[in-house]
Amino acid sequence: MDVIRVEKLKKRYGKVKAVDGISFAVKEGQIFSLLGPNGAGKTTTVEILEGLRKRDEGHVEVLSEDPEKFSAEARRRIAVVFQETALFDNLTVMEILKFFKRTYGGDADLMKVLEELGLSEKRKTLVRHLSGGQKRRLALATILTHDPKLIFLDEPTTGLDPAARRRVWEILLRLKDEGKTIFLTTHYMEEAQFLSDAVCIMDRGKIVEMGPPEEIIKRSNLKSVVKAKVGGKEMILETDRPEKAVKDLIEKGAEEISIRKPNLEDVFLHLTGRELRD
Ligand SMILES: Nc1ncnc2c1ncn2[C@@H]1O[C@H](COP(=O)(O)OP(=O)(O)OP(=O)(O)O)[C@@H](O)[C@H]1O
Ligand SMILES: [Mg+2]
Repeated sequence: MDVIRVEKLKKRYGKVKAVDGISFAVKEGQIFSLLGPNGAGKTTTVEILEGLRKRDEGHVEVLSEDPEKFSAEARRRIAVVFQETALFDNLTVMEILKFFKRTYGGDADLMKVLEELGLSEKRKTLVRHLSGGQKRRLALATILTHDPKLIFLDEPTTGLDPAARRRVWEILLRLKDEGKTIFLTTHYMEEAQFLSDAVCIMDRGKIVEMGPPEEIIKRSNLKSVVKAKVGGKEMILETDRPEKAVKDLIEKGAEEISIRKPNLEDVFLHLTGRELRD
């Protein structure tokens, strides 16, 4: 079943075509990642799906409803982590979690939620006294206070330290195991490749590639890079058949041989280029 369906979606701001006719679907229980350079149109798309921005054109269905007219029930089943979450600065961490739990009718053990995101010792701290990464973790904790069916996360791990990022990955995979659908944006291609059942790469409001990460990598026809030392000299070669290259290199007495297969980041840069976006 499709939890999200988007057809020919368009949104412009004055002359800027922020979203320029995109179509995709997200199946129930998937982790789906929307990728793209700065300004590609990701947040605009996510916020249209969340019912926070109006579209100009196109058809959008989220949990079988039009986000512009979400029922109270649909709103209750959707959890959101914004790119920049404005939480109430003068509430404590625990008060924020209690607020979300009550609002969404959740039954989570809040001490456990705090522990999971490493915020136990901060439970009485005012939000405005949290560090950037701690605020981010608190935003993530809010979705664990209740039982959403669909979760939107706009750059959930930006600004998190490596251990916290990995913890978030574990949490997202667990939520997926519980049958929830997760819609993510991220600039970390390793994260997208590791987590996603499907990714959609956008650039300048348009979709440039879409599918399971491994399929996209295969389709890109990018080559593997083999590095080795031959007679004390470093050599680098690009090849479709890295195993054969390694065999040949071993026969030539090469040392320190390594293979790097193309990854999602290579494909992303290949498709979207290396120019900075304005
Ligand atoms: N409220 C707005 N008013 C005018 N222009 C906007 C508005 N929101 C977004 N834009 C423009 O629309 C384009 C897409 O912005 P959006 O925030 O969707 O990009 P993004 O893919 O989320 O980028 P990032 O990776 O930097 O978060 C950009 O050119 C941006 O300047
Ligand atoms: Mg954004």
